[in-house]
Amino acid sequence: MDQHPWEEPQGSGSEIAFCLMSRRSIEVCLSPLLHGCHDFSGKCVVIIDVLRASSAVITGLSHGVSAFRPVAEPDDAMYWATRGYIPAAERGGQVAEGFRLGNSPFSYREGRWAGQKIALTTTNGTRAVLLSLSAEKVMIGGFLNQLAVVHQLLKFPGDVVLFCAGWKGQFSLEDTLCAGGFIAALSGYFQVSGDPAVAALALYKQHEHGLEQAVSGSSHYLRLASKGLADEIAFCLKRDLFNIVPVLMEGELVARSD
Ligand code: MLT
Repeated sequence: MDQHPWEEPQGSGSEIAFCLMSRRSIEVCLSPLLHGCHDFSGKCVVIIDVLRASSAVITGLSHGVSAFRPVAEPDDAMYWATRGYIPAAERGGQVAEGFRLGNSPFSYREGRWAGQKIALTTTNGTRAVLLSLSAEKVMIGGFLNQLAVVHQLLKFPGDVVLFCAGWKGQFSLEDTLCAGGFIAALSGYFQVSGDPAVAALALYKQHEHGLEQAVSGSSHYLRLASKGLADEIAFCLKRDLFNIVPVLMEGELVARSD
């Protein structure tokens, strides 16, 4: 298919029906608590944690960090520090106790960690990555690299699951909006599969021209804004600032841009 990802398929009724039948599927996992409802094997899973794990990893790799190793607990990050990694941990939207680095995208912008590997644990985002290890491919997506992820997904030969990291098992508005944005870009190529995907697309279409306003009512927006992080939220909602896609390779998220 050589049409633009935002265009609807053209052709006769039977051609379109054949195209729909043969199309790969795209589904949405709305929260880590629902991951057992999805079969990841053979699929590409895109982890979406707009605020802020996805955005931190995308920003860090775009500014020269050589890899992020997602780990479950702060103690694991400390273990990897003994193996040359910089330890980073976030809990409850702040740098975890005993750590100097968390998951603020701004802390990865200055090239300060260029050439270094970071062992990172966050409340939800790294947890979602670790729940996806049965997938054929795992990548990190957000508004910051949406187009780059779309290009990677167009090249992937199988089905896709957009995995929203949410907040402590709960649905999250900003991750679901971002998932809807991916579906809007890809729906001419993929069959939208399941009600969560249909709902994410509808939500995105309703708010695509007013993302910040829509997100400003979300619980994680309010949590981060109360800590003085409104500028970071605005940054995380910017589109296509970076053209890299973090891809999980041998336990580490590394940048891919081809
Ligand atoms: C997470 O992974 O839970 C988030 O990135 C939390 C945060 O915004 O600090």
